[in-house]
Amino acid sequence: MSDELKRGLEGVLVAESELSHVDGEVGKLVYRGYDIEDLARGASYEEVLYLLWHGSLPTRGELDAFTADLAAERAVDDDVLDTVRTLADAGERPMAALRTATSMLSAYDPDSADDADDDGDVAETARRQGRRITAKIPTILAAFQRARQGDDPVAPDPELSHAGNFLYMLTGAEPDDVSEETFDMALTLHADHGLNASTFTAMVIGSTMADVYSGVTGGIGALSGSLHGGANQDVMEVLQEIDDSEKDPVAWVKDAREDGRRIPGFGHRVYKVKDPRARILEEKLRDLSESSGDTTWLEYTTAIEEYLTEQGLPEKGIAPNVDFYSGSVYDSLGIPVDMYTPIFAMSRAGGWIAHVAEYQTDNRLIRPRARYTGPESAEFVPIDDR
Ligand code: ACO
Repeated sequence: MSDELKRGLEGVLVAESELSHVDGEVGKLVYRGYDIEDLARGASYEEVLYLLWHGSLPTRGELDAFTADLAAERAVDDDVLDTVRTLADAGERPMAALRTATSMLSAYDPDSADDADDDGDVAETARRQGRRITAKIPTILAAFQRARQGDDPVAPDPELSHAGNFLYMLTGAEPDDVSEETFDMALTLHADHGLNASTFTAMVIGSTMADVYSGVTGGIGALSGSLHGGANQDVMEVLQEIDDSEKDPVAWVKDAREDGRRIPGFGHRVYKVKDPRARILEEKLRDLSESSGDTTWLEYTTAIEEYLTEQGLPEKGIAPNVDFYSGSVYDSLGIPVDMYTPIFAMSRAGGWIAHVAEYQTDNRLIRPRARYTGPESAEFVPIDDR
């Protein structure tokens, strides 16, 4: 047994997976061998989900059946919607509200008591529960946002795509093609990313043979932190702060560096060059800005990136990650800033479920060790004598 300590499990191999591979040296991401660029531009989120969950890209017939099954699960029980409203009234943060509501969903799943190993097909159990969770998360999020605005929830429309239906439930109006395609692309880009912190959290939970509701609820908790999914919101808040104060973006970034602050949207544990998802979203932001005529966020992000490039950050392996551009893209779709991380969860839930299904198929309880640095022995003193 090795006593080598790897803080943050950096670089430690803990499992085999066929799902996604991140090459951080060249900036390449594949899902089951397919380049993320090809999937983002050519496949819908539903196709990507099918690929991750079932192992191959679907035929037209397989996709139609899969999409219909997913769409049929979108409605959420009234009790859950009541809870979502209560959480919104209490001013709960969106990721925390999503975590609570997702956990509650299991009470209304007729198969939630199925143990992962009950019917001998653990992957199928995970996918069945996962399909319900994936279909319902957008309904929860849209209802939460509408409740905060004092609006009633909009019932899902099974005729719309996963991406289109979310935007419809959020705004009450069917989205135009560009908005739907842009949002669908963002979902595809965030669907999976190796053993990131939230995926690993879901896997650790799954490795105890707990159900997928527990795994996804844990994943949401892990994703909510500012070192992980919370960074896209931080980026947008920076851009807004720059805009509100009419400060030069370069002056802002210089001050932040002088204060020793980290620049949100830069740096990554695995990528040492620009994240390929950031490249795709940057291009999307450019298109959206040019067609709307509002280039503010594009100008700010470009100025910050150029300045940090001149300062040699990318040479040190600190380059833009996906969060540097996703916020600006969501803003152009009219999505509120604190919904960015929940949207990330809405997409990544597909990856968490795929990893739990894959891992449970050849399960080994995940149980590492800590090096004990406490006292050798301590004499116990009863409470009244302390
Ligand atoms: N701005 C400035 N310096 C940075 C940044 C940054 N965003 N990120 C890393 N560095 C520096 C660190 O200060 C450190 O410098 P030092 O060696 O002189 O002390 C060096 O780079 C290495 O940093 P670590 O924290 O050891 O790298 P780690 O692999 O743990 O960090 C992380 C990865 C957490 C993402 C980090 O880059 C960060 O905090 N970035 C900002 C938050 C962010 O954008 N998160 C989103 C990640 S992508 C995602 O989750 C979808």
